[in-house]
Amino acid sequence: MKRTAHTVSAEEMKRQHAFTEEIRTLPQRPETYYVVTYGCQMNAHDSEKLAGMLREMGMTEAKAKDEADFVIFNTCCIRENAERRALGNITWLREVRKKNPGLMIAVCGCMIQEPGMAEKILKQYGFINLAFGTSNLYRFPELLYRALNTDQSTVIVEECDVVPEGLPILRARKESAYLTIMYGCNNYCSYCIVPYVRGRERSREPAAILREAEDLLNSGVREIMLLGQNVNSYGKDLPEGKSFAGLLKELDRMGIPRIRFMTSHPKDLSDELIDAMAGSVHILPQFHLPVQSGSDRILEAMNRHYTRRQYLDRVRRLRDAVPGIGLSTDIIVGFPGETEEDFLQTMELVREVGYDSAFTFIYSPRTGTRAASLPDQIIPETATERIQRLISLQETLQQTTMSRFIGMEEEILTEGFSRRSSEAVSGKGRHGISVTVPGSAKDIGKIVKCRITGLKNNTLTAERIE
Ligand code: SAH
Ligand code: SF4
Ligand code: F3S
Repeated sequence: MKRTAHTVSAEEMKRQHAFTEEIRTLPQRPETYYVVTYGCQMNAHDSEKLAGMLREMGMTEAKAKDEADFVIFNTCCIRENAERRALGNITWLREVRKKNPGLMIAVCGCMIQEPGMAEKILKQYGFINLAFGTSNLYRFPELLYRALNTDQSTVIVEECDVVPEGLPILRARKESAYLTIMYGCNNYCSYCIVPYVRGRERSREPAAILREAEDLLNSGVREIMLLGQNVNSYGKDLPEGKSFAGLLKELDRMGIPRIRFMTSHPKDLSDELIDAMAGSVHILPQFHLPVQSGSDRILEAMNRHYTRRQYLDRVRRLRDAVPGIGLSTDIIVGFPGETEEDFLQTMELVREVGYDSAFTFIYSPRTGTRAASLPDQIIPETATERIQRLISLQETLQQTTMSRFIGMEEEILTEGFSRRSSEAVSGKGRHGISVTVPGSAKDIGKIVKCRITGLKNNTLTAERIE
């Protein structure tokens, strides 16, 4: 199928809005909704857009999924277990419907966009009212309108690389907001399904991003998290040749107290970006830099386009430019052909870098990706044994890396009460690490100044300073 990338026209967005208004007045429309979200921040933010649209249709959020009139599963397919969990829950809801025959079920997100999935859904999950892919999110009002007027499943999956502007957003948090700067991915890492389900890389216009940031600042947001599968290749598809570093500088000038971003690919981590971070006031000193493996042979098979040495060089530059920067990573173990020697190189790299946190995954073959058909798939026992060694190494190292914060002053943006005490609040420090500090309800959503005093179960504890 031919792919096209374009901003959805204002007329089309108006047409969708007309469906929203129609649904508002329909007697048979659901009153309450519940969105179940799987996967990454992109999906979490898409769910905020769905909630925004549902609110405009006059619906309110139910307390739990088995209490809602309309349940939407926003799915992820990055690894097999993400998919299995979603399908299990969808099947479970079919039972709930036996008691509540009016219950509507929709499924959207990355899983629906997988090749062949729409057909499978129709065949095996015919009880679903509505299914749509990631590129059809902006057409949700129209699709729901159709689904409300038929007894059959409405399924639509287009491969169309759109940039929708102006969707309503109902944000989950008041103080910290997601802001999409680009969609899709062009990297085709050999293990990864994302380019197939999220389409080609496309950047939002800088003016649209800056406008949204300005609105967020005016509404009292303390932090924005810029989102994209590979944010540091932002702007490559725009005519003016805008760069991510340039965009960061403009956002930094705006005065939003805290700016974060995710995710960055090491091959696109430019000196210009590092310098922009070093020279900024509001960009937080933290960096999520997925390494995936410490072995050059495996990195090449993964199609990552950097070597271990180049990666370590980037880490060194980041640390020189932004002293004390918080570093986190993603690592896959058990990639096809990974030998004990390759794995030990990953262990060695983790030791050498000293991350503040690492997200570790067992390789999961995804149909349609290049790695799925590679020989020498690793048996689960070996992969499990390796990931356990890696996790335990990281846990040990983390004690040392995180203790560098003890005695330091930090500012945390509190998210809620600490899980262990009702007289303490917790949130992320500027370096991206969770900190717990004495506090009460009035501190939640605010930036609190403190001094780090200790480290307990991978959380820093702190005392307040005024
Ligand atoms: N765009 C981001 C994140 C993509 S998904 C990036 O490029 O960094 C988040 C993480 O899931 C990846 O970094 C990778 O470590 C992991 N992942 C992706 N596909 C996987 C697979 N097939 N099996 C196991 N882990 C996978
Ligand atoms: Fe997947 Fe690689 Fe793109 Fe990240 S950069 S989304 S791992 S293909
Ligand atoms: Fe999953 Fe899609 Fe994100 S596959 S990790 S929800 S981009």
